[in-house]
Amino acid sequence: MQNIETLRNENMNLADKIYIFDTTLRDGEQTPGVALTVDEKIQIAQKLNNLGVDKIEVGFPASSKGEIESARKIKALDLDSTLVGLSRSLTVDVDAVLDADLDYIHTFIGTSPLHRDYKLKMSKSEIITKAVETVEYAKDHGLTVEFSAEDATRTEKGFLYDVFSQVIDAGADFLDVPDTVGILTPIMTRELITDIKESFSIPISVHFHNDFGLATANTLTAIECGADQAHVTVNGLGERTGNCSLEELVMTLKSAYNVDLGLDTTRLYSLSNLVGRLTGVKMPVNKPIVGDNAFAHESGIHVHGILNNSSTYEPISPEMVGHSRRIVLGKHTGANALKSKLKEYHIDLNDEQFYKVFNEIKSLGDSGKCVTDDDLVAIAITELASARETPIEIKGMSISMGANVSPTATVKLSIDGVEKETASTGVGPVDAALNAISALIEDTLHIELEEYNLEAINGGTDALADVFVICSDPDGNKSTGRSINQDIVMASILAVLDSINKLLVIYRTNY
Ligand code: KIV
Ligand code: ZN
Repeated sequence: MQNIETLRNENMNLADKIYIFDTTLRDGEQTPGVALTVDEKIQIAQKLNNLGVDKIEVGFPASSKGEIESARKIKALDLDSTLVGLSRSLTVDVDAVLDADLDYIHTFIGTSPLHRDYKLKMSKSEIITKAVETVEYAKDHGLTVEFSAEDATRTEKGFLYDVFSQVIDAGADFLDVPDTVGILTPIMTRELITDIKESFSIPISVHFHNDFGLATANTLTAIECGADQAHVTVNGLGERTGNCSLEELVMTLKSAYNVDLGLDTTRLYSLSNLVGRLTGVKMPVNKPIVGDNAFAHESGIHVHGILNNSSTYEPISPEMVGHSRRIVLGKHTGANALKSKLKEYHIDLNDEQFYKVFNEIKSLGDSGKCVTDDDLVAIAITELASARETPIEIKGMSISMGANVSPTATVKLSIDGVEKETASTGVGPVDAALNAISALIEDTLHIELEEYNLEAINGGTDALADVFVICSDPDGNKSTGRSINQDIVMASILAVLDSINKLLVIYRTNY
């Protein structure tokens, strides 16, 4: 296999300085359903600055007073990142960027036939006039100018190059190539960016959308071909399916290309979470770098490898991006994973207990359940307490129900050999019976019913009721209980008593 250095020399033409232009606060905010307040924009800008991105596009000042206010407030923070304002090719938009107190403008105009004919209804020469006029006006007012030919990738090459040449003559500092509807592939990107780099001498930026899931791959290809700047967004937010994702691009450059952009990548995960929370756009669990599963492992083979050396199944460490590793229990769990989890919770089991817990986790996994750490602790504690006495036993139970009256359950228990009986009402017969149990054991142990699951086995009116419960005591100890009975109320009582007896043994062992 070729090593990265050979590949770089043969096929890559990396720019000496690659600028990261973050547009989370502008294109990212154009994600359908997303609107950020001034304060939220400030929080995100601060975090982007701490991460170390070169440029932050703070918004589109001409679009609202709030955009001007947020830009001004971000400017007042005196961040290291350069702040950018978007503008159409209109002098009034340039005025808004100036009003927002920004020094860098990102001005654009649609150049493709579709944009010319159906959106702008302008001829080619009118478009060039507007683009040039705006760049000149912005330059005359002392702004650094980045010019975007919107929908560049569907624009005739001759016309695109004409526009680019003329805005360069007008003083543009950066040329941006937007793939507005994400139609490029890596090979097309290679051809396009190589040619643009050979044809123009000012820095080239790319702004790639993700309609076919290729935004990051295409942006990387553009960088391989010498692009000087990449437009990105946190979590890949943006119009429709979004833009090139900041975290994917930065971490690929760092780990695969050995390009260190000087960013503090340990801040990526918390930045992603902040943006997810403020925009309400949660990341799928399998989102690269920042998703919940990015460093999660379940299968026995993988966990075994990870526990010996995390690089076996992780291309980068979670610490590099401020994330954390998670060992998940389920049907694929191996003994090593379970041992390491039990150790984490300081639970010591003998071999027999260990394999009982192991089998229970596997069978829960087989029945489609995801086993959380809380479940594991409950199962293991239950197992620890299973070689036990049963201080509380059921001695009798009856239910009375009538139309328009709450059901009443009368329950008789033997508690440490002493029989006690009481009656309670509830919203249903099970609730009434469980209320009666709580009342009877009140002086012995206070319990909370944390989880109640009822399943019918075999269907039909004579189905067996399979009840699974988790109860907890005031110290936070939890234990499971289970019972199968033809009577739902009796199955529920027995499952709860099963759980309570285990908790009582744990409680009495501790005190
Ligand atoms: O996708 C796009 O073309 C844009 C422009 C404003 C550059 O976001
Ligand atoms: Zn865009």
